[in-house]
Amino acid sequence: MKNDPEKQSDDIDYEDLRDHVFDGIQEYDKKLPNWWLMTFYGTIVFSIGYWFFYHTSGVGLSPEDKFALQQERTAEYARATGVEQVTSELLFELANDETLVAAGRTAYASSCAACHGPDLEGGIGSALRNGEWIHGSDPMEIRRVILDGVSEAGMPPWRQALGERSVNEVTAFILSVNPSLAPDEGEQ
Ligand code: HEC
Repeated sequence: MKNDPEKQSDDIDYEDLRDHVFDGIQEYDKKLPNWWLMTFYGTIVFSIGYWFFYHTSGVGLSPEDKFALQQERTAEYARATGVEQVTSELLFELANDETLVAAGRTAYASSCAACHGPDLEGGIGSALRNGEWIHGSDPMEIRRVILDGVSEAGMPPWRQALGERSVNEVTAFILSVNPSLAPDEGEQ
């Protein structure tokens, strides 16, 4: 033992001291605590799992992959719904797409029903299924009113609040409950 016991306090176990001395300083030779070791081994196991999941197996998607996938879906949606180039024909087509109509119905219930009635029967706003269209019955005219509103009559514009895509879906929903608007009624 290289230490002078009198200089040390009682709670130190000198057996644990390593022989090596530098500048009069000695190190303890302590076992690492189990919680520390478990954490350490845990990170190794985790890194193997992580590496396998994200880099080898092809199951996990990196943020870049997810982003690319999302963009692809958005582009697909744009192609399928023609968000860039909306026409009356396209809006009639959308009215036959159950998924889009359902999305439109949801948007209608939360944004429009308060004024136009839950069943489009009218209220503060005009009825949207009685065959009378103040601003025109063409799908593009209906869409235009929804996008830009009629400020002097109390119909708010929805371009900002809902976005064009959602407005297309709401228009599709309105068309779907107004089959008489379709160019060929028999088809609807
Ligand atoms: C704050 C009440 C209010 C809300 C909310 C509202 N509207 Fe209107 N809307 C009106 C009023 C009032 C008119 C009648 C405008 C007029 O007389 O020129 C109208 C007119 C319309 C028209 C034209 C009807 C026609 O006869 O030409 C459409 C289409 C329409 N709204 C759709 C919607 C949709 C879709 C929503 C939800 C995204 C919506 N509105 C939300 C008040 C509202």
